[in-house]
Amino acid sequence: MTCVKQARFILKNNHKTKQEIRATMALLEDFNWRHAVKAFDPTKKVSQENIDKIIEAARLAPTSSGLQPFRLLVVESQEVKDKLVEGALNPDCMRECSHVLIFAGWKDYSDQKVDEVYDRTTEKRGLPQGRFSSYTDKLKEIFNNQSTQENFEHIARQAYIAMGFALAQAAELRVDSCPAEGFSTDLVDEVLELDKQGLKSIALIYVGVADPERDWIAPMAKVRNATEEFVIKY
Ligand SMILES: Cc1cc2nc3c(=O)[nH]c(=O)nc-3n(C[C@H](O)[C@H](O)[C@H](O)COP(=O)(O)O)c2cc1C
Repeated sequence: MTCVKQARFILKNNHKTKQEIRATMALLEDFNWRHAVKAFDPTKKVSQENIDKIIEAARLAPTSSGLQPFRLLVVESQEVKDKLVEGALNPDCMRECSHVLIFAGWKDYSDQKVDEVYDRTTEKRGLPQGRFSSYTDKLKEIFNNQSTQENFEHIARQAYIAMGFALAQAAELRVDSCPAEGFSTDLVDEVLELDKQGLKSIALIYVGVADPERDWIAPMAKVRNATEEFVIKY
């Protein structure tokens, strides 16, 4: 870019430098880069360092009232993946991906769980005992007045936010992934013995290295609603 062009570019972009602009665009570039991979190379693994970063992104996701009412099950074992193939809409992805990250939610909220989270928060922040008691009383009242199903749906919504964070982190690392709901939650719950842990599976992410020969969707255009359609202004 010539000096004049660069100056115009900077002026047009609110006096930001090119580097600053590139930095602000980076996340959108990552989102444009990613796609829901349809086939992974079974001979390639994602590094533990990258898996750890993706896990950390999910762990740092915000949740309603900070309850983090879900756990992340990280499946690397081929034996376990093979057991889950049967119920999967994408059996090849289940068999051949490097890791399966499964989001599993609490089966329900309980007064005890709410107290555990807020006792820990009170302690970690060095706050006086009972600092949150009027808030937790309200939360407990809401959850106790809702059905288990309604509570589980609320729990699942929290897990989906974390799933989005994990997908975003994977994209930033240029790690291939595919989010999926197309799997047997009953089979996952049974194989991973989730009931015993008070959990139920919700959704998962296949993480791995795409196989360019078989990942038929890779060259296709990203299809989204146009911004004018997507955004409704008031
Ligand atoms: C919650 C959720 C569930 C999904 N379930 C599946 C699935 O079971 N199998 C699959 O191949 N893709 C699944 N997808 C991928 C979507 O089909 C894909 O994200 C969408 O078509 C947009 O394409 P892109 O992600 O490649 O941009 C799922 C995506 C989300 C967000």
